[in-house]
Amino acid sequence: MAAKTIALLDGDGIGPEITAEAEKILRLVESRNDIEFDLQHAPFGASAYFSHGHSFPEETKALCDRADAIMKGPIGLSHEESKKIPVDEQPERGALLPLRRRYDTFANFRPVYLPKGIAHFSPLKPEIIGDGIDFIIIRELVGGLYFGQKETGTTDSGKRYVRETLEYDEDQIERIARVAFVTAQKRKKVLHNIHKSNVLKSSVLWNEVVEEVGQEYPDVEVKHILVDAAATYLCLNPGQFDVMVMENMFGDILSDQGGGILGSLGLMPSACVGPDKAYYEPSHGSAPDIAGQNIANPYSMIGSVAMMLEMSFGMEEEARNLWHAMQSVFAQGFTTPDLKSPNSDAKIINTDAFGDLVAEELSRS
Ligand code: NAD
Ligand code: IPM
Ligand code: MN
Repeated sequence: MAAKTIALLDGDGIGPEITAEAEKILRLVESRNDIEFDLQHAPFGASAYFSHGHSFPEETKALCDRADAIMKGPIGLSHEESKKIPVDEQPERGALLPLRRRYDTFANFRPVYLPKGIAHFSPLKPEIIGDGIDFIIIRELVGGLYFGQKETGTTDSGKRYVRETLEYDEDQIERIARVAFVTAQKRKKVLHNIHKSNVLKSSVLWNEVVEEVGQEYPDVEVKHILVDAAATYLCLNPGQFDVMVMENMFGDILSDQGGGILGSLGLMPSACVGPDKAYYEPSHGSAPDIAGQNIANPYSMIGSVAMMLEMSFGMEEEARNLWHAMQSVFAQGFTTPDLKSPNSDAKIINTDAFGDLVAEELSRS
């Protein structure tokens, strides 16, 4: 079989530490399946800015263009360190958003999943969690405030001002709505549409289009929930959700809240899918506060590998094996430091030890 080229963008902060674990797992997957991976590292993010003068260098663009899939570690610097880079080259604006735009990765899948065996990681009460937490946030990723026109200047009276526009056209809403309905059809056939139509005209159009698209999926029940209320329900009754769809900014915020109710952002993988290409990354950032200490939780990065195996390479069974391997390491009483609770006797393990245990567990399946 022809080798699949995977662009590995290690990123910043904890990025290289957790992508190393992803690479370890990819090598193992390759050894036990009829597939070959041509893994190619490329500079991306703040580290690329300092080494190559750009946070998304041309050589990285060329590699990503020809890759079958892209695995991306988190990028970014601490608030203070970021100031060393010109605003437009800062890796969020200079690399990440251009990556999303380049491959039109409009559909961002952010599973919020904590099976019963490891539900103790959640800060929510057991009676709220019940049999675990299991829903998916589908976030529109290339529209809205993130990509609308931006302007800064000075008013006639000499005051600084800024204007950012939240734009969506109906085609952009329609395509993400379709992804959400199809996902809901494969799950519990309930779709929560998250909006703010009591204030935002963009949400009025969003809801209209979601309802129109919904006519074609009569087996899926649509429930409309205002985004502020949804934030509360995520804490008080996450079990009511199965598939949630929302625009870009709402999805950014609520998906981090998803990490919060699981117990750590380190449990949040994601897939960013466009018409021709997909890339995979943790939902969280480069965690400068813990970088370089071998204590980051690589679950989010290895989970992103599982999503890539399933969504880019059709390896559903191996993806399932990998999820089970990660969860069973935790269920055996191991924990990464982010998930440690004060009174538990769980055995704390480092980033690389978690990767090793997952590899061992996967080898047994
Ligand atoms: P963050 O997500 O990096 O960290 C928030 C908190 O979660 C920190 O306490 C961190 O230690 C913890 N955390 C995150 N991932 C973890 C993991 N795998 N294991 C253990 N703990 C983990 O958010 P931030 O500190 O606000 O942002 C840092 C930088 O990351 C910023 O420059 C931001 O722009 C960037 N960022 C990048 C991405 C991306 O590359 N997709 C996503 C979000 C933020
Ligand atoms: C995410 C991140 C990015 C976003 C930043 C780093 C641009 O927070 O992937 O959630 O806001 O989309
Ligand atoms: Mn975010």
